[in-house]
Amino acid sequence: MNKVLYIKANIKNEGQSRTFKVSDRFIEEYKKNNPQDEVFELDLYKENIDFLRPDDLGKIFGPKDEASKESPLLKYAYQFAEADKYVFAAPMWNLSFPAILKAYIDYISVVGITFKYTAEGPVGLLQGKKAVHIVSRGGEYGNAPYEMGDRYLRTILGFFGIADIETIAIENVDVVGVNVDEKIEEGISKASLLAKEF
Ligand SMILES: Cc1cc2nc3c(=O)[nH]c(=O)nc-3n(C[C@H](O)[C@H](O)[C@H](O)COP(=O)(O)O)c2cc1C
Repeated sequence: MNKVLYIKANIKNEGQSRTFKVSDRFIEEYKKNNPQDEVFELDLYKENIDFLRPDDLGKIFGPKDEASKESPLLKYAYQFAEADKYVFAAPMWNLSFPAILKAYIDYISVVGITFKYTAEGPVGLLQGKKAVHIVSRGGEYGNAPYEMGDRYLRTILGFFGIADIETIAIENVDVVGVNVDEKIEEGISKASLLAKEF
């Protein structure tokens, strides 16, 4: 049995997010294909995600023991490390993703949980796991250098040791004259295919 962590970062009301229209279908298809797996939904806007405060740094870099497992701050990092697969769903905001996702990444980038330091430099502790990033964008970016969200997510997940990363981008949805429903359907088709082999 695999544990899937479905991380959602969007403020839009239920049913309004193009990103979630695709990512929810991905999860639906995944569940159909993997009924034995456990999928946990983490809606970041419903969590106590904050910017790191001075007291938090001691916990991020401090010892990882029985006491640290009780820390409300570190619960996200432990939860992340326990999962086998990750589904990130976040729209493009200002060339990246919503800031709450970066704040969450600051919570899960924890020494001794998601990576460690060695004499040869930092080493990721989440080797062999996989992730998909589902993103809707107003314009078209592909792999353009000014796209910072997907590239950052891939880099930090790589730092944790996660090398198997897919991206489903639903682009051009804010371009005048574009058929948005068609774009979403294209995204859903890609998501349904990927959900079979994820
Ligand atoms: C705060 C904010 C910032 C945005 N910044 C960008 C941007 O930099 N580039 C872009 O192509 N679209 C940008 N958009 C448009 C969204 O990426 C686009 O509308 C997307 O489809 C939203 O996905 P959603 O329906 O899941 O929220 C932005 C939208 C918002 C609300």
